[in-house]
Amino acid sequence: MRVLSGIQPTGRFHWGNYFGAIRQYIDLQHGNESYYFIADLHALTTIRQPDELRGLVWDAALDLLALGLDPNQATLYVQSDVPEVSELCWLLMSGAPMGLLERCHAYKDKKAKGLPADMGLFAYPVLMAADILAYDADAVPVGQDQVQHIEVCRDLAASFNHHYGEVFALPKPRVLDDSACVPGTDGEKMSKSYNNTIDIFEPPKKARKKIMRIPTDSRPMEEPKDPAGDPLVDLYRLFADADELAAMEALYRRGGFGYGEVKKTLAEAAETHFAEAHHRRADLAAHPERVKEILGDGAARARRKAGEVLRRAQQACGLNSSAT
Ligand code: TYM
Repeated sequence: MRVLSGIQPTGRFHWGNYFGAIRQYIDLQHGNESYYFIADLHALTTIRQPDELRGLVWDAALDLLALGLDPNQATLYVQSDVPEVSELCWLLMSGAPMGLLERCHAYKDKKAKGLPADMGLFAYPVLMAADILAYDADAVPVGQDQVQHIEVCRDLAASFNHHYGEVFALPKPRVLDDSACVPGTDGEKMSKSYNNTIDIFEPPKKARKKIMRIPTDSRPMEEPKDPAGDPLVDLYRLFADADELAAMEALYRRGGFGYGEVKKTLAEAAETHFAEAHHRRADLAAHPERVKEILGDGAARARRKAGEVLRRAQQACGLNSSAT
């Protein structure tokens, strides 16, 4: 199977990114041909400060490697290092129906709020389709919020194929049932734009403070409580094994505990879970030349594959005839 996914460097990665997507990248790198990239072109609609963008791309690379992406197993690269994808984007854009893009949620939500949207946001799903189709990807590991975009990608690919012959493979989203939409500290979807994130690499003290501030109800300590749908249990579920989760649920049903205790257990579970990645990250940060080499090699490998698919698409639609 060929696997591909991308992540925007619009802020530091949070638990939602990890449990919805990054954990899948790491699992799927074994036994599959896999491509993972830092979507800096997509981030241009959000980050307009060049130094900030450069810093965030660098942080993203360190974070992904520290979390377990292995450059010997997977190809890791920065989106803008593969110009073939932007070229392919134009081919897809030329046949992309406006109505299809108007229904996509990033653009639609902004417009509904009366906020000005730019062309980059409108065309965002087409660039994402090019990202995927350029590598003949079969599976795209993502959280639930990206499924609509992958459906658009399939529509664009199917319509291109219908018109020009079988050029593109049709990809499928891969979403994990238990973490398709990780909740944030306010119970809504964890998202940078809702300011409700707990970041993977923030100092443990800061993360702990955020956890301690998660709102809970004011029922007395003695009262038994239903663990289903409880925001703390929902987050603890991400880190706990089956026995630990069962013990927490039993505690809720029994009652006689304080939420402070649960929050402390959650904070400790998260610290333990990411402790090794914190160490690895510090080591990588001390060896920037190693990380640059990984990204350089990744871009070269990615360009080879994307170039092959771009030529196939160009030829199918009558371009690039001087090369034949
Ligand atoms: P982005 O950068 O918003 O998010 C990266 C990945 O994290 C997942 N995610 C979540 N999963 C579960 N619960 C959450 N609360 C949560 N928040 C984020 C996202 O679903 C995503 O998988 N458009 C993409 C980037 C992209 C891409 C691509 C992805 C560009 N080209 C090609 C796949 C294939 C995005 O903005 O993800």
